[in-house]
Amino acid sequence: MKKLLAFLCISSMIIACGGGGDDTTNTSSDSSDSTSEPVAAADGEKIYKQYCVTCHGLYGDMGASGAANLTESTLSVEERIPVITNGRNTMTGFKALLNEEKIKAVAEYTMTLSEEQ
Ligand code: HEC
Repeated sequence: MKKLLAFLCISSMIIACGGGGDDTTNTSSDSSDSTSEPVAAADGEKIYKQYCVTCHGLYGDMGASGAANLTESTLSVEERIPVITNGRNTMTGFKALLNEEKIKAVAEYTMTLSEEQ
């Protein structure tokens, strides 16, 4: 009886070990198609540096193409989101490039550029 128990123990260990196997189903995870899927933690700073510095500058106060000085902006996040989404005057909207979550993330990042905060 002891032998049988030992056998069951060992065999269940082998099964537990080999059961997982190699997961070969994740080969498509490096797909670059990320346009519509929500990003877990959209990096506002990264997005800002990619799309916004050309006009607003790294610190938000460059003012190229008449861009608003983001360090002096009094708009709330809720008010910035539609500006970033749809654009305003010479600023182009970003809804074609960024999804809602990314726009929210970059809007929140622009709040940190303000000198008062
Ligand atoms: C083509 C140049 C350009 C780019 C690129 C640009 N902006 Fe702007 N932005 C402007 C201009 C110009 C204004 C002022 C619009 C106006 O006068 O109504 C502005 C205004 C804003 C405002 C409103 C500020 C206020 O107080 O009224 C926010 C917020 C803003 N931009 C954020 C962004 C973010 C975030 C990005 C990147 C996703 C971005 N902008 C990219 C030119 C640009």
